[in-house]
Amino acid sequence: MDHEFDQSYWERHWGAGGSAMSGRQLPVNPYLLAETAHLRTGTALDAGTGTGAEALWLAEQGWQVTGADISTTALEAAARRASDAGLAGQVEWIQADLSSWEPGRLWDLVVTSYAHPATGQLPFYRHIASWVAPGGTLLIVAHLRGHHTGGHGDQQVSPPGDDGHAENATATLAGVTELFAAPGWSIVACYENTRTVAPAASSAGPPVELNDLVVRLHRL
Ligand SMILES: C[S@@+](CC[C@H](N)C(=O)[O-])C[C@H]1O[C@@H](n2cnc3c(N)ncnc32)[C@H](O)[C@@H]1O
Repeated sequence: MDHEFDQSYWERHWGAGGSAMSGRQLPVNPYLLAETAHLRTGTALDAGTGTGAEALWLAEQGWQVTGADISTTALEAAARRASDAGLAGQVEWIQADLSSWEPGRLWDLVVTSYAHPATGQLPFYRHIASWVAPGGTLLIVAHLRGHHTGGHGDQQVSPPGDDGHAENATATLAGVTELFAAPGWSIVACYENTRTVAPAASSAGPPVELNDLVVRLHRL
């Protein structure tokens, strides 16, 4: 890796000609449905929302959603998707560097999928966890460390040594569960999973195998 995962990196990632362009209309990841469909709806934050697939799915289920991301390019695409889906009134989009953001409010549900900021994973998870309301849920979906993964959950294949493998862009089950062994949290689900994702319609690439880490936590 010869760069930081800073705002300019993510603007390039989502911008015209960036590696994520062909995947911008990605479907929602399957863990969101599996881990949240039974929850009573309320307020939800999608931290590192990208082009908003998960935020929009939550809005469709009746959640009042905040989608936050460091990339204005991604958020503009997300807002267009919300408008096209008739969901503009149910999602607010906020541009912020979430590793230092202090929103001054809490959400019933905080989700983050494949977000990897410059700070690395565990400090990021510790920070966003502080925004979960008592009785609420934190859902973490991450690239699993030590496995070949497609980059960024965006159906692009990362060559060996590219971002899909960067140590600070991945997490381990032990690392995340240890972080939340702290009082005030209960681990409801934690598992590793491998799934194959078809290439985006606009891409001629092969299917991508994603090695994922999923942790769902309840804030006491
Ligand atoms: C790989 S994408 C995942 C997008 C979406 N959650 C998904 O699963 O398809 C990671 C996202 O995290 C965002 N991100 C990275 N660092 C961030 C930070 N410090 N603050 C807010 N968002 C950040 C990026 O802009 C990008 O949209």
